[in-house]
Amino acid sequence: MKRKLFFFITLLIILSAVNCSDNIISECELCCGDVPAGKTTFADIQSTIFNAACIACHSGSLPSGGLNLSAGAAYGNLVNVASNGSALKRVEPFNSDASYLVKVLEGTDAPLMPPGAPLGSAKIDSVKAWIDRGAAND
Ligand code: HEC
Repeated sequence: MKRKLFFFITLLIILSAVNCSDNIISECELCCGDVPAGKTTFADIQSTIFNAACIACHSGSLPSGGLNLSAGAAYGNLVNVASNGSALKRVEPFNSDASYLVKVLEGTDAPLMPPGAPLGSAKIDSVKAWIDRGAAND
C-alpha cells in the first residue's frame, strides 16, 4: 500500500516537472493575478502589488518608512530616489541588485516587506525584471 502511494506521488512529481519543462516555467509558477515577469509594467506592479499589499501602511500623510506607494505617487517616490534605510536608491534603473525595494521584498539586509508576509517569488521576480528593463513609468 505504502509502495503504491510512493509510486503514485513520484509519478505526479515527474508529470508536473515534464509539464513545466517546455520553456513555460514562468507560467507554471504564476498564480493569483500574476503577470509574466518579462511583461510586467509599472501599472501592473501598482495594481497587483502596491495597492494589494503595501498601501495599508505606505499611504496617507505619515506613510511608513517615509514612503508613499499609492497610485500616482509611488513611481516618483521610488525611481532614482535615495532610501532612508540604506545607502542604496529605492529603485536603481537597470540594476535590481542595487535597488533597496528588492532588498525589502526579499528581506535581505533590510526589513522584510510586507512585514511577516513575503510576496511570492513570481511577484518579486516581476519587480526585478521591470527594474532590469529600465524601470520605465509604463
Ligand atoms: C504593516 C505595515 C507595512 C506594510 C504592509 C508594508 N510596509 Fe514597507 N515599511 C513599513 C515600515 C514600518 C517601514 C520602516 C522600516 C521599518 O521600521 O521596518 C517600511 C519601510 C519600507 C521601505 C524602506 C523605505 C526607505 O526609504 O527606507 C520600503 C522600500 C518598503 N517599506 C516597501 C514596502 C512594499 C513594497 C510593501 C508591499 C509589498 C510594503 N512595504 C508593505 C511598514 C509596512
